[in-house]
Amino acid sequence: MSGEGSGRQTRRGVLAAAGLAAPASAVTATPRTPPEAEYGFAPGLTYLNTASLGPTPRRILAIMTEAWAELETNPVAMAYGAGPLLARTDRARAQVAELLGCGTDEILITRSTTDAMNILAAGTRLGRGDRVLTTDQEHEGGTFCWTSLARRRGVVLDVIPIAPEDLDADAIVARFSAALRPDTRVISVSHVISATGHRMPIERIAALARSHGALCVVDGAQAVGQVPVDVRALGCHAYATTGHKWLMGPKGTGVLYLSPDAADAIAPVQLEDGHRFVSNATGVGCLPLAIGLGAAAEAMRRRGVAAVEAHNLGLRNQAHAGLGRIPRLRLASAPPGDPMGTALVAAYLPPEIDSKVFRETLLARHGVVVKMAEKRWFNGFRLSPHLFNGEADIAHALRAIRSVLA
Ligand SMILES: Cc1ncc(COP(=O)(O)O)c(C=O)c1O
Repeated sequence: MSGEGSGRQTRRGVLAAAGLAAPASAVTATPRTPPEAEYGFAPGLTYLNTASLGPTPRRILAIMTEAWAELETNPVAMAYGAGPLLARTDRARAQVAELLGCGTDEILITRSTTDAMNILAAGTRLGRGDRVLTTDQEHEGGTFCWTSLARRRGVVLDVIPIAPEDLDADAIVARFSAALRPDTRVISVSHVISATGHRMPIERIAALARSHGALCVVDGAQAVGQVPVDVRALGCHAYATTGHKWLMGPKGTGVLYLSPDAADAIAPVQLEDGHRFVSNATGVGCLPLAIGLGAAAEAMRRRGVAAVEAHNLGLRNQAHAGLGRIPRLRLASAPPGDPMGTALVAAYLPPEIDSKVFRETLLARHGVVVKMAEKRWFNGFRLSPHLFNGEADIAHALRAIRSVLA
Protein backbone atom coordinates (compact mmCIF):
# COMPACT_ATOMS: atom_id res chain seq x y z
CA MET A 1 0.00 0.00 0.00
CA SER A 2 1.43 3.37 -0.90
CA GLY A 3 1.87 5.99 1.79
CA GLU A 4 -0.03 9.25 1.88
CA GLY A 5 2.75 11.29 0.27
CA SER A 6 3.32 9.00 -2.68
CA GLY A 7 -0.48 8.69 -3.07
CA ARG A 8 -0.69 12.45 -3.50
CA GLN A 9 2.08 12.46 -6.07
CA THR A 10 0.55 9.70 -8.11
CA ARG A 11 -2.86 11.34 -7.97
CA ARG A 12 -1.32 14.44 -9.56
CA GLY A 13 -0.07 12.12 -12.29
CA VAL A 14 -3.61 10.90 -12.87
CA LEU A 15 -4.93 14.44 -12.98
CA ALA A 16 -2.24 15.54 -15.40
CA ALA A 17 -3.00 12.55 -17.60
CA ALA A 18 -6.64 13.62 -17.61
CA GLY A 19 -5.57 17.07 -18.75
CA LEU A 20 -6.99 18.69 -15.63
CA ALA A 21 -4.90 20.63 -13.17
CA ALA A 22 -5.96 20.58 -9.54
CA PRO A 23 -4.82 22.98 -6.84
CA ALA A 24 -2.72 21.08 -4.33
CA SER A 25 -5.09 22.08 -1.53
CA ALA A 26 -7.98 20.40 -3.36
CA VAL A 27 -6.26 17.01 -3.54
CA THR A 28 -7.65 14.71 -0.87
CA ALA A 29 -6.09 11.53 0.45
CA THR A 30 -7.06 8.24 -1.12
CA PRO A 31 -8.96 6.30 1.52
CA ARG A 32 -8.14 2.91 0.13
CA THR A 33 -5.48 1.75 -2.28
CA PRO A 34 -7.20 0.11 -5.25
CA PRO A 35 -6.22 -3.52 -5.65
CA GLU A 36 -3.38 -2.68 -8.02
CA ALA A 37 -1.98 -6.18 -7.73
CA GLU A 38 -5.07 -7.51 -9.45
CA TYR A 39 -5.98 -4.60 -11.72
CA GLY A 40 -4.06 -2.05 -13.71
CA PHE A 41 -5.70 1.09 -12.30
CA ALA A 42 -3.63 4.25 -12.25
CA PRO A 43 -2.66 4.87 -8.64
CA GLY A 44 -4.98 7.17 -6.77
CA LEU A 45 -8.03 6.49 -8.90
CA THR A 46 -11.40 5.61 -7.33
CA TYR A 47 -13.07 3.90 -10.26
CA LEU A 48 -16.87 3.87 -10.07
CA ASN A 49 -17.74 3.47 -13.74
CA THR A 50 -17.85 -0.24 -14.58
CA ALA A 51 -21.18 0.36 -16.32
CA SER A 52 -19.23 2.22 -19.02
CA LEU A 53 -16.18 -0.08 -19.09
CA GLY A 54 -14.99 -2.57 -16.52
CA PRO A 55 -11.33 -3.17 -15.68
CA THR A 56 -9.82 -6.44 -16.88
CA PRO A 57 -7.89 -8.24 -14.12
CA ARG A 58 -4.18 -8.78 -14.79
CA ARG A 59 -4.75 -12.53 -14.64
CA ILE A 60 -7.13 -12.41 -17.62
CA LEU A 61 -4.79 -10.08 -19.51
CA ALA A 62 -2.01 -12.63 -19.00
CA ILE A 63 -4.16 -15.46 -20.36
CA MET A 64 -4.76 -13.38 -23.49
CA THR A 65 -1.19 -12.27 -24.06
CA GLU A 66 0.04 -15.82 -23.59
CA ALA A 67 -2.55 -17.07 -26.09
CA TRP A 68 -1.42 -14.37 -28.51
CA ALA A 69 2.22 -15.39 -28.16
CA GLU A 70 1.24 -19.02 -28.76
CA LEU A 71 -0.71 -18.02 -31.86
CA GLU A 72 2.35 -16.33 -33.31
CA THR A 73 4.55 -19.41 -32.91
CA ASN A 74 2.87 -20.92 -35.98
CA PRO A 75 -0.28 -19.01 -36.92
CA VAL A 76 -1.83 -21.53 -39.29
CA ALA A 77 -1.15 -24.57 -37.14
CA MET A 78 -2.47 -22.78 -34.05
CA ALA A 79 -5.59 -21.20 -35.53
CA TYR A 80 -6.85 -23.32 -38.41
CA GLY A 81 -8.43 -26.75 -38.48
CA ALA A 82 -7.63 -28.64 -35.31
CA GLY A 83 -5.35 -25.87 -34.01
CA PRO A 84 -5.27 -25.65 -30.21
CA LEU A 85 -6.30 -21.99 -30.11
CA LEU A 86 -9.37 -22.63 -32.23
CA ALA A 87 -10.30 -25.40 -29.82
CA ARG A 88 -9.84 -22.97 -26.94
CA THR A 89 -12.23 -20.47 -28.52
CA ASP A 90 -14.80 -23.27 -28.75
CA ARG A 91 -14.24 -23.81 -25.04
CA ALA A 92 -14.62 -20.08 -24.45
CA ARG A 93 -18.04 -20.17 -26.09
CA ALA A 94 -18.99 -23.05 -23.81
CA GLN A 95 -17.83 -21.05 -20.77
CA VAL A 96 -19.94 -18.06 -21.82
CA ALA A 97 -22.93 -20.30 -22.59
CA GLU A 98 -22.67 -21.89 -19.16
CA LEU A 99 -22.77 -18.47 -17.49
CA LEU A 100 -25.87 -17.53 -19.51
CA GLY A 101 -27.64 -20.86 -19.03
CA CYS A 102 -27.83 -21.86 -22.70
CA GLY A 103 -26.25 -24.22 -25.20
CA THR A 104 -22.91 -23.45 -26.84
CA ASP A 105 -24.52 -23.56 -30.28
CA GLU A 106 -26.98 -20.87 -29.21
CA ILE A 107 -24.38 -18.11 -28.89
CA LEU A 108 -22.05 -16.12 -31.08
CA ILE A 109 -19.08 -14.19 -29.77
CA THR A 110 -19.24 -10.65 -31.13
CA ARG A 111 -17.29 -7.40 -30.70
CA SER A 112 -19.81 -5.70 -28.40
CA THR A 113 -23.47 -5.49 -27.47
CA THR A 114 -24.01 -3.04 -30.32
CA ASP A 115 -22.38 -5.47 -32.74
CA ALA A 116 -24.62 -8.30 -31.45
CA MET A 117 -27.74 -6.14 -31.86
CA ASN A 118 -26.69 -5.15 -35.37
CA ILE A 119 -26.03 -8.77 -36.32
CA LEU A 120 -29.40 -9.95 -35.07
CA ALA A 121 -31.41 -7.08 -36.56
CA ALA A 122 -29.77 -7.50 -39.96
CA GLY A 123 -30.59 -11.22 -39.73
CA THR A 124 -34.33 -10.64 -39.35
CA ARG A 125 -36.79 -10.57 -42.22
CA LEU A 126 -38.30 -7.24 -41.11
CA GLY A 127 -39.46 -5.08 -43.99
CA ARG A 128 -41.63 -2.09 -44.87
CA GLY A 129 -44.44 -1.49 -42.38
CA ASP A 130 -43.20 -4.02 -39.80
CA ARG A 131 -43.04 -2.40 -36.36
CA VAL A 132 -40.48 -2.56 -33.55
CA LEU A 133 -41.64 -1.51 -30.08
CA THR A 134 -39.00 -0.07 -27.76
CA THR A 135 -38.59 2.55 -25.01
CA ASP A 136 -37.19 6.05 -24.72
CA GLN A 137 -34.60 4.82 -22.21
CA GLU A 138 -32.59 2.66 -24.59
CA HIS A 139 -28.89 3.16 -25.21
CA GLU A 140 -28.00 3.85 -28.85
CA GLY A 141 -26.16 0.53 -28.84
CA GLY A 142 -29.55 -1.15 -28.57
CA THR A 143 -31.44 1.05 -31.00
CA PHE A 144 -29.03 1.88 -33.79
CA CYS A 145 -29.84 -1.43 -35.45
CA TRP A 146 -33.55 -0.58 -35.55
CA THR A 147 -33.15 3.02 -36.72
CA SER A 148 -30.93 1.63 -39.45
CA LEU A 149 -33.69 -0.82 -40.50
CA ALA A 150 -36.17 2.05 -40.38
CA ARG A 151 -33.99 4.03 -42.81
CA ARG A 152 -33.10 1.19 -45.12
CA ARG A 153 -36.10 -1.13 -45.04
CA GLY A 154 -39.02 1.08 -43.99
CA VAL A 155 -39.44 -0.56 -40.57
CA VAL A 156 -41.46 1.60 -38.14
CA LEU A 157 -40.33 2.27 -34.55
CA ASP A 158 -42.82 2.76 -31.72
CA VAL A 159 -41.33 4.20 -28.54
CA ILE A 160 -42.94 4.11 -25.10
CA PRO A 161 -41.74 6.41 -22.32
CA ILE A 162 -40.25 5.06 -19.09
CA ALA A 163 -39.54 7.92 -16.71
CA PRO A 164 -36.66 7.54 -14.23
CA GLU A 165 -39.26 7.69 -11.43
CA ASP A 166 -41.14 4.78 -13.02
CA LEU A 167 -40.73 1.85 -10.59
CA ASP A 168 -44.04 0.12 -11.22
CA ALA A 169 -43.39 -3.06 -13.21
CA ASP A 170 -47.11 -3.68 -13.74
CA ALA A 171 -47.56 -0.23 -15.27
CA ILE A 172 -44.53 -0.69 -17.52
CA VAL A 173 -45.79 -4.06 -18.80
CA ALA A 174 -49.26 -2.54 -19.32
CA ARG A 175 -47.68 0.27 -21.37
CA PHE A 176 -45.91 -2.26 -23.61
CA SER A 177 -49.16 -4.17 -23.98
CA ALA A 178 -51.18 -1.07 -24.90
CA ALA A 179 -48.60 -0.06 -27.51
CA LEU A 180 -48.66 -3.40 -29.38
CA ARG A 181 -50.07 -3.11 -32.90
CA PRO A 182 -51.04 -5.87 -35.33
CA ASP A 183 -47.75 -5.29 -37.21
CA THR A 184 -45.52 -5.25 -34.12
CA ARG A 185 -42.93 -7.91 -34.89
CA VAL A 186 -40.31 -7.14 -32.23
CA ILE A 187 -40.19 -5.79 -28.69
CA SER A 188 -36.66 -4.56 -28.03
CA VAL A 189 -35.77 -3.50 -24.49
CA SER A 190 -32.82 -3.20 -22.12
CA HIS A 191 -32.57 -5.70 -19.28
CA VAL A 192 -31.02 -3.03 -17.06
CA ILE A 193 -31.48 0.59 -18.12
CA SER A 194 -28.18 2.33 -18.65
CA ALA A 195 -29.09 5.74 -17.19
CA THR A 196 -30.83 4.70 -13.98
CA GLY A 197 -30.03 1.01 -13.46
CA HIS A 198 -33.71 0.04 -13.41
CA ARG A 199 -34.16 -3.69 -13.98
CA MET A 200 -36.92 -4.35 -16.49
CA PRO A 201 -39.44 -7.20 -16.01
CA ILE A 202 -38.05 -9.16 -18.96
CA GLU A 203 -39.86 -12.45 -18.28
CA ARG A 204 -43.19 -10.64 -18.46
CA ILE A 205 -42.25 -8.59 -21.51
CA ALA A 206 -41.01 -11.75 -23.27
CA ALA A 207 -44.28 -13.54 -22.44
CA LEU A 208 -46.21 -10.56 -23.79
CA ALA A 209 -44.19 -10.58 -27.02
CA ARG A 210 -44.70 -14.30 -27.44
CA SER A 211 -48.45 -14.05 -26.86
CA HIS A 212 -48.52 -11.46 -29.66
CA GLY A 213 -46.42 -13.59 -32.02
CA ALA A 214 -43.58 -11.04 -31.79
CA LEU A 215 -39.89 -11.49 -31.00
CA CYS A 216 -38.47 -10.33 -27.68
CA VAL A 217 -34.96 -8.90 -28.11
CA VAL A 218 -33.03 -7.89 -24.99
CA ASP A 219 -30.09 -5.50 -24.72
CA GLY A 220 -28.29 -6.99 -21.73
CA ALA A 221 -25.19 -4.76 -21.80
CA GLN A 222 -25.76 -3.68 -18.18
CA ALA A 223 -26.89 -7.04 -16.84
CA VAL A 224 -24.45 -9.89 -17.45
CA GLY A 225 -21.94 -10.07 -14.59
CA GLN A 226 -24.04 -7.69 -12.52
CA VAL A 227 -27.30 -9.59 -12.00
CA PRO A 228 -27.90 -13.32 -12.53
CA VAL A 229 -28.95 -13.91 -16.14
CA ASP A 230 -30.50 -17.15 -17.37
CA VAL A 231 -31.47 -16.44 -20.94
CA ARG A 232 -33.72 -19.48 -21.28
CA ALA A 233 -35.62 -18.65 -18.11
CA LEU A 234 -36.10 -15.08 -19.34
CA GLY A 235 -37.92 -16.49 -22.36
CA CYS A 236 -36.52 -13.96 -24.80
CA HIS A 237 -35.69 -14.79 -28.42
CA ALA A 238 -32.42 -12.90 -28.51
CA TYR A 239 -30.10 -11.49 -25.87
CA ALA A 240 -27.15 -9.22 -26.64
CA THR A 241 -24.46 -8.38 -24.14
CA THR A 242 -20.86 -7.41 -23.68
CA GLY A 243 -17.68 -8.77 -22.18
CA HIS A 244 -16.21 -5.35 -21.44
CA LYS A 245 -18.46 -4.05 -18.67
CA TRP A 246 -19.58 -6.13 -15.68
CA LEU A 247 -17.83 -9.31 -16.81
CA MET A 248 -14.53 -7.39 -16.76
CA GLY A 249 -13.47 -9.27 -19.87
CA PRO A 250 -11.48 -7.94 -22.81
CA LYS A 251 -12.51 -4.67 -24.46
CA GLY A 252 -14.00 -5.41 -27.85
CA THR A 253 -15.98 -8.52 -26.93
CA GLY A 254 -19.69 -9.21 -26.85
CA VAL A 255 -22.16 -12.08 -27.03
CA LEU A 256 -25.32 -12.79 -28.96
CA TYR A 257 -27.71 -15.48 -27.73
CA LEU A 258 -30.42 -16.71 -30.08
CA SER A 259 -33.06 -19.11 -28.84
CA PRO A 260 -33.56 -22.16 -31.06
CA ASP A 261 -37.18 -21.18 -31.74
CA ALA A 262 -35.99 -17.90 -33.27
CA ALA A 263 -33.82 -19.67 -35.84
CA ASP A 264 -36.21 -19.03 -38.69
CA ALA A 265 -36.96 -15.42 -37.73
CA ILE A 266 -33.35 -14.40 -37.00
CA ALA A 267 -30.72 -15.93 -39.27
CA PRO A 268 -27.38 -14.09 -39.09
CA VAL A 269 -24.85 -14.92 -41.78
CA GLN A 270 -22.43 -15.78 -38.95
CA LEU A 271 -24.50 -18.87 -38.13
CA GLU A 272 -24.42 -20.26 -41.65
CA ASP A 273 -20.98 -21.73 -41.27
CA GLY A 274 -21.01 -23.11 -37.77
CA HIS A 275 -19.93 -19.79 -36.16
CA ARG A 276 -16.46 -20.93 -35.20
CA PHE A 277 -13.73 -18.33 -34.95
CA VAL A 278 -12.22 -19.36 -38.26
CA SER A 279 -14.94 -19.97 -40.81
CA ASN A 280 -15.87 -19.26 -44.42
CA ALA A 281 -18.73 -17.06 -43.26
CA THR A 282 -16.76 -14.80 -40.95
CA GLY A 283 -13.04 -15.27 -41.67
CA VAL A 284 -10.54 -15.32 -38.82
CA GLY A 285 -11.75 -13.94 -35.50
CA CYS A 286 -9.66 -12.52 -32.68
CA LEU A 287 -8.87 -15.77 -30.92
CA PRO A 288 -7.05 -14.31 -27.86
CA LEU A 289 -9.95 -11.98 -27.12
CA ALA A 290 -12.45 -14.82 -27.29
CA ILE A 291 -10.25 -16.88 -24.98
CA GLY A 292 -10.07 -13.95 -22.55
CA LEU A 293 -13.84 -13.55 -22.67
CA GLY A 294 -14.28 -17.24 -21.84
CA ALA A 295 -11.87 -16.92 -18.91
CA ALA A 296 -13.74 -13.84 -17.62
CA ALA A 297 -17.09 -15.62 -17.89
CA GLU A 298 -15.69 -18.65 -16.10
CA ALA A 299 -14.23 -16.49 -13.32
CA MET A 300 -17.60 -14.77 -12.84
CA ARG A 301 -19.48 -18.08 -12.79
CA ARG A 302 -17.13 -19.52 -10.18
CA ARG A 303 -17.38 -16.42 -8.04
CA GLY A 304 -21.17 -16.50 -8.34
CA VAL A 305 -23.07 -13.58 -9.85
CA ALA A 306 -25.54 -13.62 -6.93
CA ALA A 307 -22.67 -13.01 -4.48
CA VAL A 308 -21.28 -10.23 -6.68
CA GLU A 309 -24.75 -8.70 -6.90
CA ALA A 310 -25.12 -8.76 -3.10
CA HIS A 311 -21.75 -7.05 -2.67
CA ASN A 312 -22.60 -4.41 -5.27
CA LEU A 313 -26.06 -3.75 -3.85
CA GLY A 314 -24.50 -3.11 -0.45
CA LEU A 315 -22.28 -0.45 -2.01
CA ARG A 316 -25.05 1.09 -4.08
CA ASN A 317 -27.28 1.30 -1.03
CA GLN A 318 -24.49 3.06 0.83
CA ALA A 319 -24.15 5.44 -2.13
CA HIS A 320 -27.91 5.92 -2.39
CA ALA A 321 -28.20 6.82 1.31
CA GLY A 322 -25.22 9.17 1.16
CA LEU A 323 -26.34 10.92 -2.03
CA GLY A 324 -29.80 11.33 -0.50
CA ARG A 325 -28.25 13.37 2.32
CA ILE A 326 -26.57 15.85 -0.04
CA PRO A 327 -28.98 18.79 -0.23
CA ARG A 328 -28.51 19.81 -3.87
CA LEU A 329 -29.01 16.32 -5.29
CA ARG A 330 -32.12 14.34 -6.16
CA LEU A 331 -31.88 10.59 -6.71
CA ALA A 332 -32.94 9.08 -10.03
CA SER A 333 -32.45 5.41 -9.08
CA ALA A 334 -34.64 3.04 -7.12
CA PRO A 335 -34.49 3.16 -3.30
CA PRO A 336 -32.71 0.31 -1.45
CA GLY A 337 -34.73 -2.89 -1.48
CA ASP A 338 -36.74 -2.01 -4.59
CA PRO A 339 -36.76 -5.03 -6.94
CA MET A 340 -35.95 -2.71 -9.85
CA GLY A 341 -32.75 -1.45 -8.22
CA THR A 342 -29.32 -2.67 -9.37
CA ALA A 343 -25.72 -1.60 -8.77
CA LEU A 344 -26.10 1.56 -10.86
CA VAL A 345 -27.03 4.67 -8.86
CA ALA A 346 -27.85 7.91 -10.63
CA ALA A 347 -28.69 11.35 -9.30
CA TYR A 348 -29.92 14.62 -10.81
CA LEU A 349 -27.71 17.66 -10.45
CA PRO A 350 -29.24 21.09 -9.96
CA PRO A 351 -29.76 22.78 -13.36
CA GLU A 352 -27.06 25.40 -12.74
CA ILE A 353 -24.36 22.68 -12.53
CA ASP A 354 -23.21 21.20 -15.80
CA SER A 355 -22.77 17.43 -15.47
CA LYS A 356 -19.66 17.40 -17.68
CA VAL A 357 -17.91 20.04 -15.57
CA PHE A 358 -19.03 18.20 -12.42
CA ARG A 359 -17.60 14.90 -13.65
CA GLU A 360 -14.33 16.51 -14.69
CA THR A 361 -14.00 18.31 -11.36
CA LEU A 362 -14.59 15.09 -9.40
CA LEU A 363 -11.78 13.46 -11.33
CA ALA A 364 -9.46 16.43 -11.22
CA ARG A 365 -9.79 17.19 -7.53
CA HIS A 366 -10.51 13.80 -6.04
CA GLY A 367 -9.55 11.11 -8.56
CA VAL A 368 -13.14 9.83 -8.61
CA VAL A 369 -14.44 8.40 -11.89
CA VAL A 370 -18.21 8.57 -12.48
CA LYS A 371 -20.25 8.90 -15.65
CA MET A 372 -22.28 11.94 -16.53
CA ALA A 373 -25.80 11.03 -17.63
CA GLU A 374 -26.54 11.45 -21.31
CA LYS A 375 -27.97 14.96 -21.65
CA ARG A 376 -31.04 13.64 -23.48
CA TRP A 377 -31.98 11.75 -20.31
CA PHE A 378 -31.18 14.17 -17.51
CA ASN A 379 -28.58 16.51 -16.09
CA GLY A 380 -26.89 14.22 -13.62
CA PHE A 381 -24.35 11.48 -13.02
CA ARG A 382 -24.12 7.77 -12.33
CA LEU A 383 -22.00 5.61 -10.04
CA SER A 384 -21.55 1.92 -10.79
CA PRO A 385 -19.52 0.09 -8.12
CA HIS A 386 -18.33 -3.44 -8.76
CA LEU A 387 -16.60 -6.23 -6.91
CA PHE A 388 -13.19 -4.48 -6.72
CA ASN A 389 -14.75 -1.49 -4.91
CA GLY A 390 -15.26 -1.25 -1.18
CA GLU A 391 -17.13 0.90 1.31
CA ALA A 392 -14.15 3.25 1.57
CA ASP A 393 -14.44 4.01 -2.15
CA ILE A 394 -18.08 5.01 -1.76
CA ALA A 395 -17.29 7.06 1.34
CA HIS A 396 -14.50 8.83 -0.55
CA ALA A 397 -16.77 9.49 -3.55
CA LEU A 398 -19.51 10.88 -1.29
CA ARG A 399 -17.08 13.22 0.45
CA ALA A 400 -15.77 14.30 -2.94
CA ILE A 401 -19.25 14.93 -4.36
CA ARG A 402 -20.24 16.89 -1.26
CA SER A 403 -17.10 18.99 -1.52
CA VAL A 404 -17.57 19.73 -5.25
CA LEU A 405 -21.17 20.80 -4.61
CA ALA A 406 -20.36 22.87 -1.51
C1 LIG B 1 -27.85 -0.56 -22.30
C2 LIG B 1 -26.62 -0.46 -23.16
N1 LIG B 1 -26.61 -1.01 -24.39
C3 LIG B 1 -25.53 -0.98 -25.18
C4 LIG B 1 -24.38 -0.37 -24.76
C5 LIG B 1 -23.19 -0.39 -25.69
O1 LIG B 1 -22.32 -1.40 -25.25
P1 LIG B 1 -21.23 -2.04 -26.21
O2 LIG B 1 -19.99 -1.23 -26.09
O3 LIG B 1 -21.04 -3.43 -25.67
O4 LIG B 1 -21.78 -2.04 -27.57
C6 LIG B 1 -24.32 0.23 -23.51
C7 LIG B 1 -23.10 0.91 -23.05
O5 LIG B 1 -23.06 1.63 -22.07
C8 LIG B 1 -25.48 0.18 -22.67
O6 LIG B 1 -25.49 0.73 -21.45
